[in-house]
Amino acid sequence: MSRRRHLVELRQAPPAVLPSLLLCDFGNLEHEVRKLEEAGVRALHLDVMDGRFVPNLTYGMPIVEACRRLTDLPLDVHLMIEQPQQYIKQFHDAGADVITIHAEAVDAPGEVLSQIRELGCGAGLAINPDTPVESIEDSLSLCDLVLVMSVQAGFGGQRFQSIALDKLRRLKQLVGDEVLLEVDGGINSETIHDCQAAGAQLLVVGSAIFRETSYREAVRKLTDLALPD
Ligand code: DX5
Ligand code: ZN
Repeated sequence: MSRRRHLVELRQAPPAVLPSLLLCDFGNLEHEVRKLEEAGVRALHLDVMDGRFVPNLTYGMPIVEACRRLTDLPLDVHLMIEQPQQYIKQFHDAGADVITIHAEAVDAPGEVLSQIRELGCGAGLAINPDTPVESIEDSLSLCDLVLVMSVQAGFGGQRFQSIALDKLRRLKQLVGDEVLLEVDGGINSETIHDCQAAGAQLLVVGSAIFRETSYREAVRKLTDLALPD
């Protein structure tokens, strides 16, 4: 069955807090995944960085594959890499359900988004804070998800940039309920509600979960704050 079914499920449900595993303990990945499952998260967000598109370097297919073996939760893979088109098939084979590329990393996002969809994965397009919504308008019909970065991609623990809220509102006007809107970077108890109110259905959280002692408590608190008014 197409892995895009997960997107339909996520779209029909209340806003979801997705943990970004960047700060998790990779020496205890199974334990970390179990704790997140027990906390009730609805998908895992995996940040792939190549040291070129962004200055930071993280992990690639093996960690996606390891997560796939450990859980049935949807895997939302955020590619912060150059030439993402060369690796789409490998991330699909590793078990990604949603693959998000950066608009700034490719000349023709439409072609890569189609490549992702043809494999049966959800296709996502991410924009950094300096990239305007207008620059991706032509590609929106090929997106299952748009990721609005609320920090410059590359590192966890940065401060939320409120330009993301304007961009979410603009995107919501353009896509309505057709495309999932996701926000990533600096999401915490102060910023999460505004993001949801601006149209984000998927709220990616790194430090505000992984720096807490109880993931369950952190996810519960953030999920409550993310509920619509
Ligand atoms: C940043 C990553 C994010 C980040 C989120 O480039 O895409 O997923 O790790 O972490 P926090 O919530 O700490 O900003
Ligand atoms: Zn991310």
